[in-house]
Amino acid sequence: MNNTDWGNLPFGYMKTNYNVRCYFRNGKWGELEISSSETINIHMAATSLHYGQEAFEGAKAFMGKDGKVRLFRWEENAKRLRNSAKGIMMAEVPDDLYFSAVKKVIELNKEFVPPYGSGASLYIRPLLIGTGAQVGVKPADEYLFMIFVSPVGPYFKSGFKPVNMMICRSFDRAAPLGTGHIKVGGNYAASLQSLKKGHDGGFASVIYLDAKHKEYIDECGPANFFAIKDNTYFTPESSSILPSITNMSLIQVAEDLGYETLRRPIHIDELSDFDEAGACGTAAVITPIAKIVDEIENKTYEFSTDGKPGKISTKLYKRLQAIQTGDVPDEHNWVELLDI
Ligand code: PLP
Ligand code: COI
Repeated sequence: MNNTDWGNLPFGYMKTNYNVRCYFRNGKWGELEISSSETINIHMAATSLHYGQEAFEGAKAFMGKDGKVRLFRWEENAKRLRNSAKGIMMAEVPDDLYFSAVKKVIELNKEFVPPYGSGASLYIRPLLIGTGAQVGVKPADEYLFMIFVSPVGPYFKSGFKPVNMMICRSFDRAAPLGTGHIKVGGNYAASLQSLKKGHDGGFASVIYLDAKHKEYIDECGPANFFAIKDNTYFTPESSSILPSITNMSLIQVAEDLGYETLRRPIHIDELSDFDEAGACGTAAVITPIAKIVDEIENKTYEFSTDGKPGKISTKLYKRLQAIQTGDVPDEHNWVELLDI
């Protein structure tokens, strides 16, 4: 591990020492197991394979200057995983099991937590799947909860540099009364065609519109959308977007820094009014947007022409990172210092 080029890590899978697993059988969760295997043994009729009973999370841990590992807002990830489980009728993972699993997997892979100042972090991927066999469409009676970790760099190759995005008009990621608000695998399957179309067109990602009217902004690939106008941070309200923990945190950070914040439906025509725009998420952190192209309507909205992120996006980005690595006080109790 010593020759890992921490500063140039991609956002991808890297083999680590261990993962942790726990099975739900006979109506209860078993003991947490430690595994060094990268594979799982699963019944061919498992509901996760046929009927999409699968949910996951994405979280990060950071190394502080003091050599302590900091886990960001794990309670929110645990809560969202419970919501996802409820949404597709899976067994819910209790918070104490979630926390002991995440702490254990980080402890077992401590050497993979990238050093302070490298810009990289330890990505944490909890997974909950139906393992019980069914042939009729119904929920499984057995589940597997597991977590693996991987050291990662930025999700978008550019890092904290503005990227171009394309408005997606030929696909919907999620329906207003569908599963967009929970983190289930099916939403990501539904996004693959559109993301390929965006990438093929030279865009970093695509922006989804609300599926019903095709007039309001939903989100940006696997990240929420935000925009800045004067002193206000705007972000969309919609029943089909994933409630982003990063976005929730940025709203608080923006308020702490003295900005106004507004969560409401954002009409696509409003894009021309904004000074700055960006995508935010655990993987994406803040990815500033240079321009948004609407090919079908033949319109381009520009937010950065000099290749630099906007002033307020930069302030938010720096403050959030400083909280995560412990460089500024953790006023909202978002960071769990792990005694590992
Ligand atoms: N939206 C989608 C569709 C996502 O996959 C993610 C990533 O988790 C986000 C938004 C950002 O959420 P968070 O900030 O909790 O990572
Ligand atoms: C995250 O930001 O954690 C995500 O889950 C995005 C991912 C689908 C790559």
